[in-house]
Amino acid sequence: MKGIVSAVLIILSVSTLAQDAAKGAKLYSKCISCHGSQGEGKKSMKAPRISGQFDWYIYKSLVDFKKGERKNPTMLPFIKNLSDQDYKDLSAYISTLK
Ligand code: HEC
Repeated sequence: MKGIVSAVLIILSVSTLAQDAAKGAKLYSKCISCHGSQGEGKKSMKAPRISGQFDWYIYKSLVDFKKGERKNPTMLPFIKNLSDQDYKDLSAYISTLK
């Protein structure tokens, strides 16, 4: 019995860790004004292209900005109130953009 309970708990925790690209797509609406609808970037906003990038790289960039290890005062207000899961979902979605 105990074995079954822990197996269920493991499955639950693995599925909550999963990235949800569909949720990421919704969150990405906040980013379009600077990075463009396809992640192509926008010169006038000095926002780089983020499409075609690995999900782990996008995720790490977001974490570094939030921690202040990378400084980006223009973008920080848009990402600082998002959760770690939001970062994962965003990264999953952005990495699908071509
Ligand atoms: C107000 C404009 C603005 C908004 C809105 C914005 N960004 Fe950015 N973003 C920037 C700028 C400018 C940079 C370049 C920062 C630097 O100098 O490193 C950047 C950099 C990035 C990078 C790092 C790219 C790289 O190659 O290192 C990622 C990833 C990123 N943004 C994701 C996002 C996501 C996801 C959102 C939405 C939640 C978002 N941005 C919203 C302006 C913006």
